Amino acid sequence: MSEIWPRRPRLVAGNWKMHRTSAEGAALSGEIAALVRGQKACAVALCPPFPAIEAVGRSLRDSGIHLGAQNMHPEPQGAFTGEVSGSMLRGAGCRFVILGHSERRHGMGETDDVVARKLRAALRDGLTAIVCVGETLSEREGGQTAEVLVRQVRTVYDGLPPGTARQTVIAYEPVWAIGTGRVATPEQASEAHRVIRATLDRVVGAGTGAEVALLYGGSVNPGNAPALFAEDEVDGALVGGASLEAASFWRIVAAAS
Ligand code: PGA
Repeated sequence: MSEIWPRRPRLVAGNWKMHRTSAEGAALSGEIAALVRGQKACAVALCPPFPAIEAVGRSLRDSGIHLGAQNMHPEPQGAFTGEVSGSMLRGAGCRFVILGHSERRHGMGETDDVVARKLRAALRDGLTAIVCVGETLSEREGGQTAEVLVRQVRTVYDGLPPGTARQTVIAYEPVWAIGTGRVATPEQASEAHRVIRATLDRVVGAGTGAEVALLYGGSVNPGNAPALFAEDEVDGALVGGASLEAASFWRIVAAAS
């Protein structure tokens, strides 16, 4: 994986969440591929729901767009009804996996320790993890944003060798901005990204923070993307709602390119 991650690449990833059947996903990814084809300034990934992964992968063939999943189990196989492993995702053509999304942390009880185990499993299975971190509204209002980000990054990255940590991506997604239409300001995103980079430097090793791609996520749309991407700290975006429509997703990719 080191080939596309030499120096903090730009990346725009679409998180489709629980939207689109395999037929719908193939159609949407075909539309996106037709728009994105040929642009090389920014890496692009689509993360459909599990049942749509193979159909979307087929429709993305030769498009240069990467395939990703939204979650995985830390064990390689076993009696875990309803779960999928990293090697299964690799076998289905995935390059990326989103880990620790707030909808899993807050809706499914995923802790920092679980996300840490999943990250190691993703690395073992050759997947590039997009590790999500971010504070809730009450944590922000209570002045705890930095403390929460430090705790999340520290727990998940503690003990990882720098060369391995560099193969991952972190998405800063303030919980209050996800699906709410209330986007973080470019300054808020940059400030959070600086905290995350400084924590990586302390936990993993000096210089690591500057080499890990950091995405912003939470109500990104074609209107607010250019100002977010104008920040040196922001290397791309994890896009939910606006990735479900080819033209709006393409405009976000174009803004990052
Ligand atoms: P949103 O979702 O763009 O719809 O706010 C982002 C995400 O949850 O990754």
